[in-house]
Amino acid sequence: MKLNKQYWQERYEAQRTGWDMGGVSPPIGTYIDQLANKDLRILLPGAGMGYEAAHMVASGFRNLTILDIAPYPLERLQKRLPDSFPPENLIEMDFFKYQGKPFDLILEHTFFCALPPELRPEYVLKMSQLLKPGGKLAGLFFDFPLTDKGPPFGGSKEEYEALFAPHFHLRVLERAINSIKPRAGSELFFIFEKK
Ligand SMILES: C[S@@+](CC[C@H](N)C(=O)[O-])C[C@H]1O[C@@H](n2cnc3c(N)ncnc32)[C@H](O)[C@@H]1O
Repeated sequence: MKLNKQYWQERYEAQRTGWDMGGVSPPIGTYIDQLANKDLRILLPGAGMGYEAAHMVASGFRNLTILDIAPYPLERLQKRLPDSFPPENLIEMDFFKYQGKPFDLILEHTFFCALPPELRPEYVLKMSQLLKPGGKLAGLFFDFPLTDKGPPFGGSKEEYEALFAPHFHLRVLERAINSIKPRAGSELFFIFEKK
């Protein structure tokens, strides 16, 4: 099975979107709500239906770039919030091909776990390249054993430490305290700062 554009587009079209929470994830919402600078240049990769993006627009953030490989969720987001994003900030593209000016912050929510695990080292490098020095990658990782089954593919605190520590200062990596019930105990909230 290839986890490519066609795969994700078909899952959206067939409404096989078990990951979709229908709203912003509470740990990420809490993090967003304490960000004072609304001018931060922020990337939401693998943003799906864009609940975090919508929450940020409502909170006054002005410099958001939303990227997904599948057109379906981007078209829906554009329809839901027609005046919120210039077209160039809603990007339909493979994350690994994206080139742009560096960001202050990148928000991760069930994107890492949706990728084939062999791409993890490439993900770390790409995230590091897309951030300004001192820029942050923040969000949630799953905390359950990595097997052949997925997406979502699991991982552990130890694995994330080993992967990210060469390129990031690991400021926070701890059990999320306000996960939604079905994910309680299986999410790690993190803030990693680019070295
Ligand atoms: C599990 S969904 C999560 C969506 C959203 N972040 C959420 O939490 O609801 C994974 C998302 O990543 C997108 N995706 C998968 N591979 C991608 C890639 N290489 N580049 C960009 N987006 C990708 C999919 O289209 C899908 O929207």
